[in-house]
Amino acid sequence: MSDLSGARILVTGGAGFIGSHLVDALLDGGAESVAVVDTFFLGREENLAAARDRHGDALTVYRDDAGDLGAMTAVCRAERPDVAFNLATKALLYSFFNPVGAFQVNVAIAAALAELLRHKALAKLVHMSSSEVYGTAQQISMGEDHPLLAETSYAAGKAAGDLLLTSYVNMYDLDVVTVRPFNNYGPRQNDGAFAAIVPLTIKRLLEGEAPVIEGDGRQTRDFVYVHDTVAATLALATNDAARGRTLNVGSGREVAIREVVETLCEIAGYSGEIVEAPARPADVRRHRADVTQAEALLGPIARTALREGLERTYSWHRAVLAA
Ligand SMILES: NC(=O)c1ccc[n+]([C@@H]2O[C@H](COP(=O)([O-])OP(=O)(O)OC[C@H]3O[C@@H](n4cnc5c(N)ncnc54)[C@H](O)[C@@H]3O)[C@@H](O)[C@H]2O)c1
Repeated sequence: MSDLSGARILVTGGAGFIGSHLVDALLDGGAESVAVVDTFFLGREENLAAARDRHGDALTVYRDDAGDLGAMTAVCRAERPDVAFNLATKALLYSFFNPVGAFQVNVAIAAALAELLRHKALAKLVHMSSSEVYGTAQQISMGEDHPLLAETSYAAGKAAGDLLLTSYVNMYDLDVVTVRPFNNYGPRQNDGAFAAIVPLTIKRLLEGEAPVIEGDGRQTRDFVYVHDTVAATLALATNDAARGRTLNVGSGREVAIREVVETLCEIAGYSGEIVEAPARPADVRRHRADVTQAEALLGPIARTALREGLERTYSWHRAVLAA
């Protein structure tokens, strides 16, 4: 498959942060239809408003559980998708609220999709894994062969889901591409319960509160702007050389959390205190992607500089707050 224009697409978790940008890109790129399956655990109708305005009936939303094989079978029967993108999950920080639930949701969704592939209700799956499956870096940079050393039950569930899908590929010769993004940031990222550092810091700054860093702030992540992740995911979905493979998607740069928070403070014109809170248990210490394999297929992934991406993200949150 070289192009998704004219294709019928299913996106699990499509009302969420990355998923909704993927839905926009698919429809803007000429997909015939996009069906979103989302429980709206953290997904939001507003995230799909632009797609609905621009593409109307080409977008269908099913408020359903992507881990429910019966529901997913019915959706596939109605939608006849050419390709499914799996982005549904509960947030990493949900692990601390309901550890077994955070694990099980990721496994159940992977299992349902694996069965749909096996029964030919789906022909192709692009599965979104997470760099969290690697845990703290054992070596820098981190290639796709880095051991799976999940620190949280969310990450353990993502890793288990990846392994399950790989086993189905081996047993049934299925068409699956696993994309393993590092830390995404950008407009529409959840800034409420279970929020990640970028939206959480922006929200605090916009509400006149001091930003908070958990731990010493020297823990690092590989940040990648959401549009760059979406572009890479779509390019891998349509590249036959990616079939059956797992590919990292990141910037290849390691940035300390303190640097990100300080950059956001600069963007916001904030020069007050940064509160230091105790380190979070099971917080990954270092992350930097080795993106050699994906970039050999796609060219450069991270086209958006961190400062530029953070400025765009800050402006987006400010506009939402003002609306
Ligand atoms: N945000 C990141 O930094 C990041 C990094 C690496 C990988 N990922 C992966 O990317 C994907 C999307 O993440 P995101 O940041 O957009 O998260 P998100 O929470 O914004 O989106 C996930 C969506 O899945 C929905 N959902 C939850 N359980 C569901 C279920 N059982 N059935 C259907 N929908 C369900 C949620 O309502 C939400 O809309 C996830 O698979 C995540 O593991 C994200």
